[in-house]
Amino acid sequence: MYVDVCMYVLPSRTIHTGRGDYSPYIKPYINSLTALHQHCRLIMSMMGAARAAGILAAVVAALVLPPAVLGLDNGLALTPPMGWLAWERFRCNTDCVNDPKNCISENLFFEMADRLVADGYLAAGYEYINIDDCWSSRTRGDDGRLRADPERFPSGIKAIADYVHSKGLKLGIYGDYGNYTCAGYPGSLGHLQTDAQTFAEWNVDFVKFDGCYAHPKDMDKGYPEFGFHLNQTGRQMVYSCSWPVYQIFSGMTPDYASIAKHCNLWRNYDDIQDSWASVTTIIDYYGDNQDVLIPLAGPGHWNDPDMLIIGNFGLSYEQSKAQMALWVVMASPLLSSVDLRTIGPEYRAILQNRAAIAISQDPLGIQGKRIFKDKGIEIWARPITPVVGEYYSYAIVFFNRRVDGTPSQVSVTIHELGMLNAAGYRTEDVFAGQSYGVLYPADRLKVDVNPSGVVLVRCSAVPARAFGRPPQQQLQRGGRPFFTTTRPRFF
Ligand code: GAL
Repeated sequence: MYVDVCMYVLPSRTIHTGRGDYSPYIKPYINSLTALHQHCRLIMSMMGAARAAGILAAVVAALVLPPAVLGLDNGLALTPPMGWLAWERFRCNTDCVNDPKNCISENLFFEMADRLVADGYLAAGYEYINIDDCWSSRTRGDDGRLRADPERFPSGIKAIADYVHSKGLKLGIYGDYGNYTCAGYPGSLGHLQTDAQTFAEWNVDFVKFDGCYAHPKDMDKGYPEFGFHLNQTGRQMVYSCSWPVYQIFSGMTPDYASIAKHCNLWRNYDDIQDSWASVTTIIDYYGDNQDVLIPLAGPGHWNDPDMLIIGNFGLSYEQSKAQMALWVVMASPLLSSVDLRTIGPEYRAILQNRAAIAISQDPLGIQGKRIFKDKGIEIWARPITPVVGEYYSYAIVFFNRRVDGTPSQVSVTIHELGMLNAAGYRTEDVFAGQSYGVLYPADRLKVDVNPSGVVLVRCSAVPARAFGRPPQQQLQRGGRPFFTTTRPRFF
């Protein structure tokens, strides 16, 4: 049985996110002004203290301090970070005696670093290799510092950093704002400055900072404080926060303005597990809360729906393409957690699909939106480049959540999708690698979407002059009314 989604009326209201006047290209400039302002405020407050104490030296000290920059101002993650993260697949397996190939040890990270490079992931953009929980000793060293477990990480974290850097990769590490990490290893409460300094001295490039064993109310102060210390080290480190998810789960409303100001990415929702149910629950969360979440995302600051689990045990081939498509359209970080030594070639191809990655890494950094949802069919749209005049290009996901075992046909005009550029859109199916040629607003796009699968298309706006045809001819082609509004319908 085919389902003709054209029967369902697409939402026709104009949803304006208020992003229209916002250019990502001026953002770094604004950020550096913020940094300067902050530095200035720091200097002024220290000058005040110095006056009170009559110590001129403090002024001198203030002047030579590095600029106090916020997490967002670190110039990093201008597109969603891409890499590999140990947690979902390897968890807290510390049994290197019985399971040496899979335990959390330096060997695992050396091996994964080798695979990331040799198997083409780095070339595709996956540049971070991230250690998660369970890497450290159960206790701090005599110097009060975190230290790697000496049995499982005999070379130490810095040696891993040196190794991955020599291969062109970057290293991530895991810490926790509370007394302990979620798995019970030492947390950073009371040691924020020391731990930031330790990570910097180890040449770490990315810090995931969890929130177990901490009070969610303290996080509004604590997460910015750790970000401040990270920046004070002078080493650029991506700052991944778990701040909102703990607050949401404790019934608080997160201060997202502050979170987006201080973190490069942040977890909003539950941990991903190796199942389709887990993936769809996460997708629903981001769709249902999109009006709050979409405006937060942009170059340097991203919502994080957690890791890609493509190539593990829980997702079919269709479901794997669905996770990839939804994650790229949601402008999510692409942090794969899979055994790169055993992943099947078809799953590797999904992770490395260049056209999908190009959507993920689109420089506008606009998070996509669920624009249609009915009877198990969803359509998601993300505005991307090129922008032609006032028209965005779009990545569109047709997502079939139905389980009746035959593909569902979704049929919709380009205009109904909110695309109004009279010169049309060069349209291609990302996973099939098939071109639909140039489609005009009145043209109908019909796709067959497999059960629990997707069709991901990229619609690139065509400049009016490309075909040298006057707009009237394009109008006649579809023979349908021409919409004069220049504003995309959904963004
Ligand atoms: C959770 C976190 C996971 C993983 C785990 C480690 O809180 O969401 O991604 O880091 O802790 O114990």
